[in-house]
Amino acid sequence: MKVQTIIILVLAVLVIALAAKILLCGKDSKTCCAKQDAISNIMTRTSIRAYTDEALTKEQIDTLLRAGMAAPSAMNKQPWEFVVIDDKETLKSLKNLYKGARMADQAAVGIAVCGNMQNAIEGEGQGYWVDDASAATENILLAAHAMGLGAVWTGVHVSEDRVSGVKELLSLPEYVIPLCVIMVGHPAESPEVKDKYNTEKIHFNKW
Ligand SMILES: Cc1cc2nc3c(=O)[nH]c(=O)nc-3n(C[C@H](O)[C@H](O)[C@H](O)COP(=O)(O)O)c2cc1C
Repeated sequence: MKVQTIIILVLAVLVIALAAKILLCGKDSKTCCAKQDAISNIMTRTSIRAYTDEALTKEQIDTLLRAGMAAPSAMNKQPWEFVVIDDKETLKSLKNLYKGARMADQAAVGIAVCGNMQNAIEGEGQGYWVDDASAATENILLAAHAMGLGAVWTGVHVSEDRVSGVKELLSLPEYVIPLCVIMVGHPAESPEVKDKYNTEKIHFNKW
């Protein structure tokens, strides 16, 4: 085949690819693909409870914490605190504290997402710390997934025993309440994503 023919073929493929991208995404293809990536990240996240021995880098942990702190919070109070647990003995103790944390000793890190009552809204709005810390938690789960890591939310705050156990283990001050511990690591399983979309849960204007 002549060099000229090859060049024409390559150019033709490039033009077709570009046209397809513009047709699928419109003019603003960069924004569109970023949106598609973000939506696909949300739709494909799933809880991961088995991890390899590989550690997380400082940069990865930093990105997860930045994602957590990018969450919205009521009156922008940001009443959250994060305790990063990478000590294997502490992770083992966590595993023995509550059944939900059975994967803790395998995780590269646990991130305890807590609410600081000294920074929470005073009065009736104080309970918003749970919403704020939950938003931070979901951001971390999504960031972990986007980074190719595996993570799972393990709930703490609804059980007095779990709260006191985690508080003691992590030496939390009295005014700091653990919402959950997120276990994170390099995934050693790839469970199927659950399809939870259910039109019966959707109501327009009135129930
Ligand atoms: C508030 C809350 C508490 C949870 N606690 C635990 C837990 O203690 N241990 C656990 O393995 N998973 C826990 N999960 C993860 C759920 O089991 C999981 O999100 C659910 O089964 C849906 O699966 P998916 O995350 O793969 O979509 C918790 C999730 C939430 C939101």
